[in-house]
Amino acid sequence: VKDVGIHAMEVYFPRTYVEQVELEAFDGASPGKYTVGLGQQQMGFCADQEDIQSFCLTVTANLLKKHQIDPKTVGFLAVGTETIVDKSKSVKTQLMQLFPDNSDIEGVDVTNACFGGTQTVFHAVDWVYANHSLLESRWAIAVMGDIAVYDAGPVRCCGGAGAVALLIGPNAPLAFDRGLRAVHMQNVYDFYKPQMNSEYAVVDGRLSIQSYLMALDSCYQLYKAKHAQLHDGVPVDLSSFEAVVFHSPYTRLVQKGFGRLAFHDFLAGRSGHLTNIDELLPFRDTPLDATYGERTFEKATLAASESLFKQKTDPSLLIARRNGNMYTASLYGGLCSLLFNRSPAELAGQQILLFSYGSGSAAAMYSLRVSPDAQALSSLRASAVDAAFRLQQRVKVTPQAFTQALQMRETMMGKSSYEPQALRSDSGEGMQFGMFPDTFYLTKIDEKFRRHYEQI
Ligand code: ACO
Repeated sequence: VKDVGIHAMEVYFPRTYVEQVELEAFDGASPGKYTVGLGQQQMGFCADQEDIQSFCLTVTANLLKKHQIDPKTVGFLAVGTETIVDKSKSVKTQLMQLFPDNSDIEGVDVTNACFGGTQTVFHAVDWVYANHSLLESRWAIAVMGDIAVYDAGPVRCCGGAGAVALLIGPNAPLAFDRGLRAVHMQNVYDFYKPQMNSEYAVVDGRLSIQSYLMALDSCYQLYKAKHAQLHDGVPVDLSSFEAVVFHSPYTRLVQKGFGRLAFHDFLAGRSGHLTNIDELLPFRDTPLDATYGERTFEKATLAASESLFKQKTDPSLLIARRNGNMYTASLYGGLCSLLFNRSPAELAGQQILLFSYGSGSAAAMYSLRVSPDAQALSSLRASAVDAAFRLQQRVKVTPQAFTQALQMRETMMGKSSYEPQALRSDSGEGMQFGMFPDTFYLTKIDEKFRRHYEQI
């Protein structure tokens, strides 16, 4: 078995979104704070007729249907999410309704903030390597999704919602570099959800940013060391990769992160691909710990990496900028955006570097090798074009209606005998029209807390 990786991809996000410019005005934030300061354009959200199980049903059903995957040919399926609707029953088991004639499917849910998706992907890859044999040649599927909502206040603009499903098997057009994963895990209370009846996180914003950047530094250094060990001492730097894709809480943080990677290249004496090197010189001997949040350092690393960022990372930020933070699915929405913005011919034969971060914290950096045959990317490319098209088909609603939708979600928490308010004809602007065709939605939570779904 070789070249285990991604054969097909499906992305789902809700049909409703709010404009960040309008949210700035609504929240009384200074104009430009969300759009320029955080680099966010729009934010996707859903009311109470969708939940994490309906998201995952939609994205998995679409993957099977659009790529004509016979449910009997799937042997592994796991879900990464931090949007918990049950402390015991996994979302994975709900997805088994899509596999009526096949109960032999390994995998359950994985949870740690935004990292559960990547761990699910790793499990799927590892399942293929560990199990493929004469007896077993079935697909693995990794599903990740979240509904990212914050309490009213300045952090609410950092939400988003969506899910991604990846079809994983051998001889893939996007193959994982085997044995080359750099991980950073640490005990940090930067973002966590201790309140069982609330979807809102407790956030220490500054700490979460520092924790993201520290994990990034650590993973890049480790990735480079492991790469050199695996490849006879051959070093890598940012110029070794056609694209660098990040988990994106908001896109300005990604740009700052990219600047730090450029700084590591500079420290390693590999700065041929950087500009304005003079501005980095004063920081040559500064300990990394002293650089977090340091303004002149940030300015220097952004200047050194600006054109490289536009080339290697900006193309992967389309969905992140327009739909917000999909938590576990964010990085994979980034991969989808890259496949939309860069042609198969440009990506064929190249390497892509990826960084995943989940608060708490758990992070990893790894790389994908793209098949030299551009034709092999055509199905992935078609899915990316379809997702980008759907981004344009969404319905804009006002910040008032967005607030109302989140209130509906608050009302739903912990309830039995509940019917979604958004399905009522008097539910307010945009809500009753807020779903794409083929979307699964929650019809009721019955008196025994069992959830029931239908598909549009
Ligand atoms: N025009 C342009 N820029 C502006 C404006 C304006 N009018 N107003 C503010 N800004 C800039 C600020 O200078 C700041 O830039 P900086 O980050 O370079 O310093 C940025 O916009 C944000 O402004 P702050 O005053 O820092 O905003 P606030 O204190 O409200 O907090 C934060 C921002 C921490 C990101 C908060 O929204 C948050 O906690 N978000 C959720 C946590 C998060 O996403 N963490 C990241 C990793 S963890 C994860 O993935 C969930």
